[in-house]
Amino acid sequence: QANSMSMDTTTKGPYEHYMLKEIHEQPALVDKLAAFYIKNEGRKELDSLKGFKAPAWHLTACGTAWHAGLVIKNYFEQINRQRADVDIASEFRYREPILNKGEVGLFISQSGETADTLACQELCKEKGIETFSIVNTEGSTLFRNSDKNFLIHAGVEIGVASTKAFTLQALTGYLMSRAMEGTLDDPKLFSEIQLLSNRIGELCAQSDSLKEVAEKIYTKKGFIFTGRGKYFPIALEGALKLKEIAYVHAEGYAAGELKHGPIALIDENIVNIAVVGPELLEKTVSNVEEVKARRGIMVVVGPKNSPEIEHLADAYIPLDFNGLPNLSPLYVNVALQFLAYHIAKLKGTDIDKPRNLAKSVTVE
Ligand code: G6P
Repeated sequence: QANSMSMDTTTKGPYEHYMLKEIHEQPALVDKLAAFYIKNEGRKELDSLKGFKAPAWHLTACGTAWHAGLVIKNYFEQINRQRADVDIASEFRYREPILNKGEVGLFISQSGETADTLACQELCKEKGIETFSIVNTEGSTLFRNSDKNFLIHAGVEIGVASTKAFTLQALTGYLMSRAMEGTLDDPKLFSEIQLLSNRIGELCAQSDSLKEVAEKIYTKKGFIFTGRGKYFPIALEGALKLKEIAYVHAEGYAAGELKHGPIALIDENIVNIAVVGPELLEKTVSNVEEVKARRGIMVVVGPKNSPEIEHLADAYIPLDFNGLPNLSPLYVNVALQFLAYHIAKLKGTDIDKPRNLAKSVTVE
């Protein structure tokens, strides 16, 4: 299959789980996707977007793909200054969305077979608007029915909890955004993506330090992931990954909303996993203090060399945000993938086939 771009994605190799293997595949897949879309065959597909402007984009997806949509919305709005709405597919299809001529429906899906996402595509087609996809499965229903497809070339993803597909969906959205701006040849773009791949590689090499954090918190009752701005979708995705595979209550929250409800839950059995970029580090100090004052357990995923927060937190996951102005959310997310994996492993759950979940939800 051209999709896997020569990587063997169907066996576990030396890894204990497919999920672990798929996390480790990310650096190479990121490099390959960048080469495909910037330098090789994929370039003509992206060039077809040069100068493209839609009065509005309607992004719809389910689960992890919806979180990728939230990341992509930020790119379209901030880089392209184009309006982009993101919806959960099962909501969009029933809420009589306003769809006007010239607008575009963009569907994000690993399988290309998710029933709700396909229903949204049908709806957009009935309303006569164009439909684009960001999809992994060539030949899937979504792929066949779209006016334009942007394949993510993740190879086969076997772990039910999606990992590499998220990273490559978000990266494809970023490349589409840069293609619309006509900045695919900016050498900084290619080097930023290479840096992302290197940083994910570093996380893979240091996964044991994330295991140590997991050991400190895996017996706790509940987990509140917080993030602001570009890290809010990552808080949602981090919480989803953890609940999917470790069977613990986990929710993602916008950091500023902590005081508007979830803070009431905080006691010594609740962990707040705060994702903080260098941009808003100062604001976070007071958040950490609030949680600590209520005896909550504080794990911060933040920039390395931040002694003040490192000192306050119960566990600190230091990351190097430098040089990743647009792609840092994808990098941070991989740290949360490892954290979920290690917590699930300590709990002894069925990581690749978590109970009650299906890889692809083809019924409503
Ligand atoms: C299921 C899977 C998730 C996935 C979601 C959407 O719930 O367990 O991992 O994110 O479906 O799937 P899709 O194939 O449309 O990306």
